[in-house]
Amino acid sequence: MTKKILRALAGETLPTPPIWMMRQAGRYLPEYRETRAKAGDFLSLCYTPELAAEVTLQPIRRYGFDAAILFADILLVPQALGCDLRFETGEGPRLSTITTPAELAGLKGRDAIHDTLSPVYETLRILRGALPGDVALIGFAGAPWTVATYMIAGRGTPDQGPAHALKAADRATFSALIDLLTDATIDYLLAQAEAGAEVLKLFDSWAGSLSGADFDDFALAPARRIIAALKARHPDLPVIAFPREAGPRYEGFAKATGADCVALDNSVSAGWAASHVQKDGCVQGNLAPGHLVTGGTALVEETRRIVRAFSGGAHIFNLGHGITPDADPDNVQRMIDAVREGS
Ligand code: CP3
Repeated sequence: MTKKILRALAGETLPTPPIWMMRQAGRYLPEYRETRAKAGDFLSLCYTPELAAEVTLQPIRRYGFDAAILFADILLVPQALGCDLRFETGEGPRLSTITTPAELAGLKGRDAIHDTLSPVYETLRILRGALPGDVALIGFAGAPWTVATYMIAGRGTPDQGPAHALKAADRATFSALIDLLTDATIDYLLAQAEAGAEVLKLFDSWAGSLSGADFDDFALAPARRIIAALKARHPDLPVIAFPREAGPRYEGFAKATGADCVALDNSVSAGWAASHVQKDGCVQGNLAPGHLVTGGTALVEETRRIVRAFSGGAHIFNLGHGITPDADPDNVQRMIDAVREGS
């Protein structure tokens, strides 16, 4: 039988939606914290296939989600291109910056990425052998704009100011960085597909800070180019696009990029998205992650409301963004029960 999430991605309306969660392997789980301590630091966890596979499997064992997402990070690609990367505990990522033509020229080419990223492919191969038969394996990458915001600033930024500044001051360098990331992302995702990923997801966490023609040029066009290259080689491999906080630009995004599914953050109402986005195909989302901290009847009622709003078409139940470290693992089970109670 075809896996439930693949049926939804093919556009089927199911009696109850398949479920997984962004960051489902993460610090809210005691077993994750234990494995992470064993690995030493976050990047060692990403690059040790046995441990990365182990944390990927933990939420599947505990909750029986319909999909497992590869454990890795979107910032491994800049590292594979030659940027220095480290994660400071409690402070997030720090990278060497790319803001000049010389720094851009100093990066490695797309062909070099597999030297660094081959452990990620090994993680996927382990997972394909270890996952239960009804659980789909999701691979992913960051979208070029979002990854570029970290490479240009050297860290996370509230408003992506440094990336916007480079785009305004030196459009040629900025565009060349986006093009390099687009090419590297194609090669990275193709290698993930060949290692066993059955679904691919493109995370554009900062798409919402692009407006007008910038949204077309740096969110939409790279996604379209990446998806076209993936489909040329793997026509049946479904792709989920996540242009987070795109607001009204969610409408038409799937058609314009060729994505099989659009992931919705929790700033858009499920009712609006059902009529404006789901009309073109499968949608994923969009419970606010805060409900998994606060729980109670609000969690159950909001979960039911989202399931109902999207019940007329193809839907994958998920959060609007990653689950946070302060979430209560019992609330995750309550959410799953509320999604599946109708079945
Ligand atoms: O969804 C999953 O569980 C798959 C694995 C995954 C991680 N990060 C693991 C991770 C995925 C898909 C990501 C994507 C990612 N990484 C994004 C895009 C999605 C989003 O959340 O907006 C971004 C912007 C990053 C970059 C990143 N990685 C930041 C800013 C941080 C620090 C913030 C934090 O939560 O600590 C990370 C670290 C990170 N990536 C963690 C995990 C589980 C926490 C690391 C730890 O264990 O300390």
